Amino acid sequence: MIELVNLTKEYKNVKAVKNLSMFIERGEIVGLLGPNGAGKSTAISMLSSLVEPTSGDVRFENSSIIKNPSKFRKIVGIVPQEIALYEDLTAEENLHFFGRIYHLRGAKLKQKVEEVLEQIGLSDRRKDVVKKFSGGMKRRLNIGVAMLHDPEMIIMDEPTVGIDPQSRNYILETVKRLNEERNMTVLYTSHYMEEVEFLCDRIYIMDKGDLIASGTKEEIKKILSSENTIAIKADRFNKEFLDALQNHPSVNRITIGEREVLIIVPRAVNMFSEVIKIAEEYGIELVSVDNKAPTLEDVFLHLTGRALRD
Ligand SMILES: Nc1ncnc2c1ncn2[C@@H]1O[C@H](COP(=O)(O)OP(=O)(O)OP(=O)(O)O)[C@@H](O)[C@H]1O
Ligand SMILES: [Mg+2]
Repeated sequence: MIELVNLTKEYKNVKAVKNLSMFIERGEIVGLLGPNGAGKSTAISMLSSLVEPTSGDVRFENSSIIKNPSKFRKIVGIVPQEIALYEDLTAEENLHFFGRIYHLRGAKLKQKVEEVLEQIGLSDRRKDVVKKFSGGMKRRLNIGVAMLHDPEMIIMDEPTVGIDPQSRNYILETVKRLNEERNMTVLYTSHYMEEVEFLCDRIYIMDKGDLIASGTKEEIKKILSSENTIAIKADRFNKEFLDALQNHPSVNRITIGEREVLIIVPRAVNMFSEVIKIAEEYGIELVSVDNKAPTLEDVFLHLTGRALRD
């Protein structure tokens, strides 16, 4: 549906986005993940023709949306990172105002506002002014604005930053529902790994303007395929057991908790029987020994040496 081709944005002192190439198929939820300053918002601004790229192109149905943005604009809803609402207007009035910008009028406008209020779960708060809303409710209304013109695709820039867990779940569920029920295509930007894990079919990970990984969750996690993490659980450990693990030639790293020890070993090594043997030797009663699946957070740490969170 959409293809970004070597998209680049340079500001005076920074290369905000460097040679970004990605594609989005119709009906997919694609995640764009990266820490502060990665270039996510800049990429989205170029997609929504708010920022002109230094070089590169964005293709939509075989034409350039940089040169000719109007066709794409009609079918896309953008949820900006910064909330753009009128604080002194009610939820309903805000939706009416933005609906008119999208050239909706009369009965059609009224019907769309109803529908959107329902979708974002604010029907019962429609008459309240926005300045009385919680952060999460403002976020939901911000999303509602982007849905007024029945977009085929929605682009969301960190829609869950700084809000309560309940609103956050509501937003995540809404995105899933829009995708499942209406085949809505979604580009979802976040620096929360678990949101992207929950929502997205495919993921792009950016850091400092560069694309550092892309693919399905499974493909991205294969980056870590040379190592296995094994979780060892017991009611208690003793020093001899921990020393034996720590000094074991196949153990690359060890993290010791009160009732759980994680060891990282080369994938090719079968450590299960080894762990059981050592436990028997030092009188440890194991509760479980399991392979621990790597998370996207582990991948980011592996690629950059930093955690994704601030
Ligand atoms: N208008 C601008 N002028 C100069 N530099 C800019 C401008 N907009 C963004 N930048 C720089 O480009 C880089 C990428 O910024 P961007 O906002 O795209 O990151 P982001 O991934 O959205 O981060 P965050 O998670 O904090 O929103 C940063 O170093 C930022 O300072
Ligand atoms: Mg941003």
